[in-house]
Amino acid sequence: MANTEIELCGIKLKNPIIVAAGNLSQDGEKARKSALAGAGAVVTKTAGNPKHPCYSPAYVRISQIVPETHFSPTRQSTPGYMTMGHDHWITCTAEDWLERELDIALKGGVPIIINTSGSPRIASAEQPHDAWKAHAARKAELATRFEKKGASGIELTYQTAQFACLGSGVDTNQMQMVIRAVKQAVQIPVWVKMPYMHDIEMWAAAAESAGADAVVFTGAARVVEIDPEAGRLAVPTDSGWTAWQGAGRRPLTMYCVAKCTAHGIKIPIIANGGVWSSIDIIKFIMAGATAVQLLTAITMEGMGTIRKLNSEIKQWLDSHGYKSLDDIRGLAIETWGEIHQEEFKARVDPKQCNGCGLCVHLCRRGRVSAIRLDEDRGLAHVDQSKCIGCAYCTIVCPSGAISLAGWPPPRKNQPK
Ligand SMILES: Cc1cc2nc3c(=O)[nH]c(=O)nc-3n(C[C@H](O)[C@H](O)[C@H](O)COP(=O)(O)O)c2cc1C
Ligand code: SF4
Ligand code: SF4
Repeated sequence: MANTEIELCGIKLKNPIIVAAGNLSQDGEKARKSALAGAGAVVTKTAGNPKHPCYSPAYVRISQIVPETHFSPTRQSTPGYMTMGHDHWITCTAEDWLERELDIALKGGVPIIINTSGSPRIASAEQPHDAWKAHAARKAELATRFEKKGASGIELTYQTAQFACLGSGVDTNQMQMVIRAVKQAVQIPVWVKMPYMHDIEMWAAAAESAGADAVVFTGAARVVEIDPEAGRLAVPTDSGWTAWQGAGRRPLTMYCVAKCTAHGIKIPIIANGGVWSSIDIIKFIMAGATAVQLLTAITMEGMGTIRKLNSEIKQWLDSHGYKSLDDIRGLAIETWGEIHQEEFKARVDPKQCNGCGLCVHLCRRGRVSAIRLDEDRGLAHVDQSKCIGCAYCTIVCPSGAISLAGWPPPRKNQPK
C-alpha cells in the first residue's frame, strides 16, 4: 500500500494531516484526543495572554442562515459547508500550556506545535516599532521555554482576530524581526501562518529569507455575509467582519499554495483553510504543499475523519500507481503561467451544429466575430486567423458542437 508518511522540517509525520489551531486543540486534553484520533501532528490553539471573552458564536454554518439558493443562481459556487468563525477565546494562556497542558498534549504521542501570535496588540499611544521589538523578544523567550518542555515546533500566527494581521499596516520587516528573534532562540522549526493575501508569495519569500522553516496558509479570510430574511449581518460580531472557514474557501488557499510553489518558495508549504476531502489533500500536494492542516472538516464530520482521509489518500495513490506523496508533490504547477491562449482555436463539428447563431452573437472577439454562419448551409464556421481561443463559444453552444483544438495542453512531465 502507498506510503503517506512525510518528513516536514526534519520531523517525521505518520501522515500529512495536521490538526489546525482551534477548538480541537484548545487545551492539553483536546490536543491529546486529536493526536490519538490519528493526526500526523497537532497545532495548539493560540497560546496567548490574557484570556478573552467570546463575543459571538465561534461557528455558524452559513447555509443554515442564508438559504443555499441565495449564494449563486447557477448553484455552481454553492459552498456546501461554508462556516464562519470569529473566535476571540483563548482557553489556555502560554503559562497554562507551559505549566501543564503541553505535558498532557504530548501524551498523544505525536509532535505538538505551539501556536502563538506573531504580531503584537498595539495600544494607540505606543510606537509600532517599539511594540514589535518588545513582542519579538517576548516570543523568543517563550519559544525557548516551549522547546525545553518538548514542543516540536512554533507556529507564529498572523491571523488571530485581536492582533495585527499581515497586509494591514504591517510591513515585512516587522514580521521578519519576530521570525529572526524566535529562530535565534530555538533549534525546533518555526512555521509562519498567514492570512489570505493576493501577494502571498512576497510575504512567503520574506518569511523564508528571515529563516522560517515552513509557511502555513491561509489561516483566515475576513468576510461579511448578510442574512436577507432577517435584514442584518448573518454573523454579527464586535468588529463587523468575521472569518470564513470550511470547504468553500479551498480555491483561495489553493491560489496561495500554487502561487508560492510557482514562485519558487523552497521551504515547505502547509495548506490550511478549506481542506475537506481526501481529494482536496491530493490536490494541495499536487499544488506543492508538503502537508495540510484541517479544523472545520474534522469539527463537522467527527474525529474519525482523520483516519478515514488518510486511508482514502492511500487508496487513491494505489489506484493511480503512485507509491508516496513525494511522487505527486508540485506535479500540477509545471504549466503555471505558461499558457498562451491564442494557441487554442475553436473548431465546429458541422454534424452537431443546428445553426442557432448564438456563438456568432457571443464570440468574444467582439465586432470582428471570429465565427459566422456560412451562406450555403447556415452552419457555424470559425475564421482561425481571428479566433483568440477564449473558449466562450464552447460554453454557450447549446448542442456541444464547438471544441477548442489544442486544449488542454499536453503535460510536460508525465506522472512518475
Ligand atoms: C473556532 C475556531 C478557533 C480558531 N482558533 C484559532 C487560533 O487560536 N489560532 C489560529 O491561528 N487559528 C485559529 N483558527 C483558525 C484555524 O486554525 C484554521 O486556520 C481555519 O479554521 C481554516 O481551516 P479550516 O477551513 O480547515 O477550518 C480557529 C478557527 C476556528 C473555527
Ligand atoms: S474561442 Fe473565442 S474568439 Fe474563438 S470563436 Fe470561440 S468565442 Fe470566438
Ligand atoms: S452555438 Fe453551436 S449550434 Fe449554434 S450556431 Fe454556434 S456552433 Fe452551431
